[in-house]
Amino acid sequence: MRKAFFGALLTGLAFAGEPWDLEAPTGLKFGLIKGYENWHVVATHFRTDKNELRYIIGNDKAVEAYKKGMKKFPDGAILVKIGYSLKKNPAWEASLEPDVIQRVEFMVKDSKRFKDTGGWGFARFVYDAKTGKYKVFGKSAQDYMQCFSCHKLVEKKDYVFTDYVRRR
Ligand code: HEC
Repeated sequence: MRKAFFGALLTGLAFAGEPWDLEAPTGLKFGLIKGYENWHVVATHFRTDKNELRYIIGNDKAVEAYKKGMKKFPDGAILVKIGYSLKKNPAWEASLEPDVIQRVEFMVKDSKRFKDTGGWGFARFVYDAKTGKYKVFGKSAQDYMQCFSCHKLVEKKDYVFTDYVRRR
């Protein structure tokens, strides 16, 4: 029931027409997560400093690993973070709802290819509401070292901050 709800929500929100050919300097294309609007919600986060609502979603491999309580994610696991600005629900102002997509970013496990960054490859695509287009974040793979540096804080959790949210 809950899952069906989240699924419907994400399908409704996902921005249609993502430029799947855009490629991050880490060699990862946006298209790697094609169909992500149908993946599983791992958790939602709210960043008070950025006033941004975030959905963390995962593909089957990532979610299976979470459910098994595994410490390591297997190759092929992908976690996506989607950030939205917020607006008031016109019918109920105390209820804030996602407004404009800000950014889609993801991390994919490929332990051989990305051995220097904990086995994870990172990619970020920033949405510009003015032009209605996505832009690649960063100019070089070096620009992506900051992703790994910060995610190192949670090295013990295989560099993943988000825990799977309980559904009961
Ligand atoms: C300064 C710290 C910091 C940097 C830099 C950073 N992240 Fe994160 N990231 C976080 C935190 C904290 C979370 C979990 C909370 C949240 O969603 O804000 C997170 C969550 C994520 C998630 C969801 C999985 C998880 O670990 O919870 C993805 C995917 C992700 N980040 C990708 C990236 C990418 C790609 C970059 C670089 C372009 C990046 N991050 C840079 C702190 C950081």
